[in-house]
Amino acid sequence: LRVLVLHGPNLNLLGKREPGVYGTRDLASIEQELITVGRDLGATIDSRQSNHEGVLIDWIHDAAYPKDPSGSRVDGIVINPGAYTHTSIAIRDAIAATNLPVVEVHLSNVHAREPFRRRSMITPVCVGVIAGFGPHSYALGLRALVGYVRARVS
Ligand code: DQA
Repeated sequence: LRVLVLHGPNLNLLGKREPGVYGTRDLASIEQELITVGRDLGATIDSRQSNHEGVLIDWIHDAAYPKDPSGSRVDGIVINPGAYTHTSIAIRDAIAATNLPVVEVHLSNVHAREPFRRRSMITPVCVGVIAGFGPHSYALGLRALVGYVRARVS
């Protein structure tokens, strides 16, 4: 199984960024954990971060329709779209265009914060959402996605 893990804007600053909200672990350490969890689940992880909406969209397209003819579709995507969660119709449309199973994750409990964080443009095109478990949200999201994909193919 192959899983693409996408991290949106400002997540490159994890560890330094508002540690009271997002914790002190950096992105590299979370990515390491995901590779280990992925190995246990039999999934290969490709983890990427960008601050740019269009770059995230290109990666979503590539995951479903690889430019390299020898490339194959990934089996699913785990995405933390950061603040694009609340604004990006373009990322939502990209996900809808791929027909890939996507799990949305957030470190913080977006429902316990400012009202504008309660609305997600992305959730309607996702299998489900995991929010509020800090860095662990990613591993939970990965497990949920792999379980979903396996149930669907078997
Ligand atoms: C976030 C929540 C978003 O509201 C925020 O803009 C982020 C991070 C999270 O992981 O908790 O950048 O996606």
